[in-house]
Amino acid sequence: MWFDDSFISEVAERNDIAEVVSEYVKLGKRSGSNLFGLCPFHNEKTPSFSVSPDKQIYHCFGCGKGGGVISFIMEIEGLTYPEAVEFLARRAGMALPQQETDDGSRWRARLYALNKDAARFFHETLRASGGEKARQYLAQRQITSATATSFGLGYAPESWDSLKRAMLEKGYTEQELFSADLVRKGKNGGSYDTFRNRLVFPVIDVRGNVTGFSGRIIGDGEPKYLNTKETPVYNKGRLLFGLNLAKKSKSGYILLVEGNVDVVSLHQAGFDSAVAALGTALTNEQAQLISRYTGEVILAYDSDGAGLKASQRSIDILQKLDVKVRVLRWEGAKDPDEFIKKFGPGAFRNLIEKSESQIDYRLKNIRSRYDLSIPEQKVDYLHEATRLVASFPGSVERQVYAARIAELAGISADAVQKEVEQRRGRLLKAARKEFEKGSRPAAAVQPADRALRYSNPSSALAEEGVVRLLYLDPSLSSAASSLSGGDFTSEALGHIFTVLQERIAQKRAITVTLLADELSAQEINLLVSILEKPETMANAGRSLSDYIKAIRQQQEIHEEKPDLRALADRLKNNGKGYTS
Ligand code: GTP
Ligand code: MN
Repeated sequence: MWFDDSFISEVAERNDIAEVVSEYVKLGKRSGSNLFGLCPFHNEKTPSFSVSPDKQIYHCFGCGKGGGVISFIMEIEGLTYPEAVEFLARRAGMALPQQETDDGSRWRARLYALNKDAARFFHETLRASGGEKARQYLAQRQITSATATSFGLGYAPESWDSLKRAMLEKGYTEQELFSADLVRKGKNGGSYDTFRNRLVFPVIDVRGNVTGFSGRIIGDGEPKYLNTKETPVYNKGRLLFGLNLAKKSKSGYILLVEGNVDVVSLHQAGFDSAVAALGTALTNEQAQLISRYTGEVILAYDSDGAGLKASQRSIDILQKLDVKVRVLRWEGAKDPDEFIKKFGPGAFRNLIEKSESQIDYRLKNIRSRYDLSIPEQKVDYLHEATRLVASFPGSVERQVYAARIAELAGISADAVQKEVEQRRGRLLKAARKEFEKGSRPAAAVQPADRALRYSNPSSALAEEGVVRLLYLDPSLSSAASSLSGGDFTSEALGHIFTVLQERIAQKRAITVTLLADELSAQEINLLVSILEKPETMANAGRSLSDYIKAIRQQQEIHEEKPDLRALADRLKNNGKGYTS
C-alpha cells in the first residue's frame, strides 16, 4: 500500500517512540534526556539501548540498530515498511487510507477471519471431550498441553461437516469455506470438511494471520499429512511453519527442519528458533523471508538420503542470499524430534555447538598461533580469545565459546566465562562513556554493521558530517551541490546523501521515520548513529565546506596513489635490472 508523507508523519506523531518501545522494553534510568533499557535485538545484561523522546529515535550502541518508531516496529515485529505503518496506524486508532477496502483485500481479510475462527474451533475440539483421541496422541508424542496452546494445535473431528456447520453458523458463506480450502466438493455434488480426524497445525504468517493448516494423521496411515492447497491467503512457498514464533528468538540463528512435529518438539525443548518449510524444498522466497530475521541458518533435516539432498539445495539457495549455513549431523535418530526424545535437549545443544562455524574457525586460528604448553603463551592465547568472544552480542553465544576456549586451554570454563563477562562489561562501559561524551574512539569510527565497513575512514568521517548537516539543516542543500553520491567512498553514505538531496529538491520533509521507506534498514541504523554524534550548528556553512574540503583532499590522496605505486614498481624493476 502507498501512504503519503503527511499520513506517515501523523502516524509517527500519534505513536510516541518512548511509549511504543515501552511495550517491548522496560525503559528507565535516564541519562541526559535519553531513556535506557535492555536491547530487544540482542542479548545483554547492561542496558545499551537508548531512546530519545526529543529526537524520537532509538539507538543501541551494543548492536548498532537504530531508527524511528516505524523502523522499530519493522525490526521487532518483522514487518515491511507499509506493514509497520499499518500496524502503528491501527495502534493509534487511525483510519487507513482508502485502498485497503478494495475487493481483493476485503476478500482476503474475510478468509483470514474465517481461518482464525476455524483454528479456534479445532483448538476447542481438541480440548473438549471429543478430542480425547488427539490428546492421547499428543501425550504419546510427548507434546505438552502448554505447547499445544502456544502453537494453537487443534483436532479436526471425525465428521463430514462439523467445521462447515460451525462456520456457517458464524455467518461465513459456503463460497468462503471453499475459497479457504476448509471445505472441498465431493464427486456427487456434495461437500465435506477438508480436515477430518487429524491433528491440525495452523500455519501462521509473521503478521499473525492464520493462513492455512497442516493436518497430520493420528498415528500411522496415508497420507501422513494433508495440507491446505493454494488459496488467496495460503502460498506454501512463501510461508514457514513456526516463523511467527521463531522470529522473536534471540538465539541469533534460525533452525530449519523438515517436519511440523520437529518444530513443535524443538520449541518445547527450548530451541525457539525452529521453523519448517511446508513439505517443500526450501524456496527462494522462503529463504528471503528467513534472511529478514537472521544471518545464520542451522539445517537439521532428517538424517536420510532425502534429507541430505534437501540440505544441499537449501544451502545453495541460502548462500546466494549471504546467509551463513551450518549443517547438523547425527546418528541414531531419524529426525530432531526423535533425537531429543532419545538423547535429550542437552545432546541437541551439543550438536549445534559442535557444528563447525566461522567462529570456531577463528578461534582455532588464534589457538594455532600459540604454544599452550608455555605458560606465558597460554595467557596470551586466553587474552586474545576472550577478547574475540567478549565482542559477541549474544550471551548464550559467549557462554558457549568461553567453554570452548577453556576446553582448548585445559582450564575451568567458569574462569574463562567470568573473564569474558568482565571484558564484556568493560567494553560496554567504554562504549557507553564514549557515546555519552559524544566522541568516539578510532575503532568506533566504523559502523557497527560490518557489512557497511568504511574503506576510507578519514573520508567517511567527513561524509558523515555532510549527511548530518544536511539532515539537520536542509537549507544547506545548495552549498553541498558540488557533491554527488559518487564522491562518497562509502556506498551507503552516498546513497543516504542522494536520497536527502532528492527529497530536499522536492521540498519533502526529512525525518528518520519518512526515510525508512527509501533507505534500507542498514542505512537507517547508520543514519541514526550519525545523528547521535554531536554537531555544532552555530557555523554550519563553514563546517560543511570543511567537510567537503576533507572529502576532496582524500580523493586527491587516493588518486595520487596509483602514480606512487607505478613509480615504486619502476624503481623495483630498475633495481632488478642492475643485479641480474
Ligand atoms: P513425524 O515426525 O513422522 O510425526 O512427522 P513430521 O511432522 O516430522 O513430518 P515428516 O518429517 O514426515 O515430513 C516433513 C513434512 O513434509 C511435513 O511436515 C509435511 O509438511 C510434509 N509431508 C509429509 N508427509 C506428507 C504427505 O503425505 N503429504 C503431503 N502433502 N505432505 C507431507
Ligand atoms: Mn519428523
